[in-house]
Amino acid sequence: MKNVTDTAAVEYARVPTQHTYNDDVFPQIVVNNDKCKTVADTVEFVKANQSELEAKLAKAGALLFRGFPIDSAETFDVFSAGFGYPNFTYQESLSNAVRINFTERVFTANEAPKDVEIFLHHEMAQTPISPSKLFFFCQHAADQGGATPLCRSDKLFEALKAENPELASDFKEKGLKYTTTMPAANDANSGQGRSWKSTLSVNSAQAAEAKLKELGYSWQWMDDGSLKAITPVLPAVIELDDGSESFYNQLIAAYMGWKGVRENPSSAITFGDGSAIPKEGLERVAELSEDFTFDLDWQDGDVAIVDNYRAMHGRRPYSGDRKRVVLVALVASER
Ligand SMILES: [Fe+2]
Repeated sequence: MKNVTDTAAVEYARVPTQHTYNDDVFPQIVVNNDKCKTVADTVEFVKANQSELEAKLAKAGALLFRGFPIDSAETFDVFSAGFGYPNFTYQESLSNAVRINFTERVFTANEAPKDVEIFLHHEMAQTPISPSKLFFFCQHAADQGGATPLCRSDKLFEALKAENPELASDFKEKGLKYTTTMPAANDANSGQGRSWKSTLSVNSAQAAEAKLKELGYSWQWMDDGSLKAITPVLPAVIELDDGSESFYNQLIAAYMGWKGVRENPSSAITFGDGSAIPKEGLERVAELSEDFTFDLDWQDGDVAIVDNYRAMHGRRPYSGDRKRVVLVALVASER
């Protein structure tokens, strides 16, 4: 019998909406063409081509696998584990999103209602502990909408530098501080609804304070039992391995999507020295990001790997009776 790796050359597909940067496409799309019949074949295929796939991912920032036999949380777990990357668990993260775990590695992307847009962000860039890569798996696409927008943050920052070098330099030099309020109990109706106990993996107020202190946060308890936390200074821009700079933060998601932030950005985001970020600047960054965004219109069984340092992601609202199920596995940082 023929071994899958005998015919394992990677085949790429093109779609009309793909972007081209530096003579390469974004995102890269790898197609199966019936070569891999099982998830074990797929893992073998990945291992046989891992250096090529990783090089494509590093350059493009996102890699889509289409037509592979991945159809459940379990097969997705096997596929994502096949790359051999260190796991980043939801429990140990400081993510503010409410999610449900399926396997140790795999959980739901975000339990926010379907009409809520999740705006572009780098996963957990508003916390000191963020993953290096994300695997997304579309188990069931929505009837209408529900695409995952992917945005090239290196290209976004390049454009911002060209248009407004002063603002770009302020972001780079000053960094950012984020203020988030974690509710007393999980709120599934919000994209930011994870309770402080769950977010911080603690059972008492005392343990919450100890954890925040260790991470360099300052905090304040609110009358309704929620916990307001202010991060230490975090970067707004990071340098990537190829020397390019990436707009690595949560500013767009915070400005566009967090409650009350559009009206008063300083309630949640400031420069690292505490000074206000100009509203027009935030507005412009959100506008500019559209030029570098590709909407990934999911098909059932699609898996995407996103380089969390180079590309932002979000979630478009969706509608229809079909339940959209997109699962996630995260890769810990090796930086
Ligand atoms: Fe996310």
